[in-house]
Amino acid sequence: MTKVFITRDIPDEGIKMLKKRKSIKLSIYNNDKKISRRELLKRVKGMDVILSILTEKMDAKVMDAAGPQLKMIANYAVGFNNIDLAAAKERGIVVTNAPGPEIVESVAEHAVAMIFALAHRIVETDDFTRKGKYHGWGPKLLLGTDVARKTLGIIGTGRIGSGLAQRMHDGFGVKIIYSDIKRNTDFEKKYGAKYRTKMQLMREADFISLHVPLLDSTHHLISTKELKAMKKTAFLINTSRGPVVDELALTKALKKGEIGGAGLDVYECEPLTDCKPGDSYTLRTLPNVVLTPHTASATVETRQAMSRTAAKNILAFLDGKRPPNKVKM
Ligand code: DGY
Repeated sequence: MTKVFITRDIPDEGIKMLKKRKSIKLSIYNNDKKISRRELLKRVKGMDVILSILTEKMDAKVMDAAGPQLKMIANYAVGFNNIDLAAAKERGIVVTNAPGPEIVESVAEHAVAMIFALAHRIVETDDFTRKGKYHGWGPKLLLGTDVARKTLGIIGTGRIGSGLAQRMHDGFGVKIIYSDIKRNTDFEKKYGAKYRTKMQLMREADFISLHVPLLDSTHHLISTKELKAMKKTAFLINTSRGPVVDELALTKALKKGEIGGAGLDVYECEPLTDCKPGDSYTLRTLPNVVLTPHTASATVETRQAMSRTAAKNILAFLDGKRPPNKVKM
């Protein structure tokens, strides 16, 4: 029997796939809340495979608590910054992630939603209306800005960055500029995009959207210098990973009105309820931000697809095949 542990209940399609395999003994932390570290260390003991959620730190301690038979960690996320890859490699543990066309679509759509919510001040105006402040139409009431004719700067032209470019270029005729570790001529051809250095992009774009993984090289990719280069009217959107943005610097820039606003789905400190005043918590008090709780991929279609992808990776591995989404280590 292969023992598989899922660290939190996930949408059922992948679970059903694993349950069909008679040689798998499946156990699930069947709670709609994060497993505690202590419980995690206890429950992984003796497992051959762990299907992990991005909120669980999969470090050497967890791997050792599982035991030397642990062969695989299948992450239920595209990102895998919660997994200590060096520790996994040392122990010969295979790591997989869960990308797929659905997650590209939902995160790109979420970034589009952020752009329009900021430009048309949707959250602020909703709040205004709900609070009974709408006493009559006014020519200068709550003016926003059009997205049409504006420039969108995309940092990171992988699948999600490209998905956003496609939607904004083909759908709304927005001019696309981009920055990446190297030029992407395919992206340029498809979306009429122009390459810029990061600092050129910061100066030129009206909307800036981040689509990079969290690595040492992308930690605080956007900090004081970059924010100071932005137009006073420009908006920053982050649906990648919180620490890509220096949040304290961002909070200062937002408070001083040095930039137009920000749309954030990810934070340096998550969840926001665990943060203290002074860090991500402060963002909640600002009017010129749109905040979502790391839900860019939270659609039924995508979360089921991620569940199937994680299961496919496990089943392929158990069949002695290369899992389709094996992470390079
Ligand atoms: C991922 O898959 O990395 C996303 O952040 C989950 O929402």
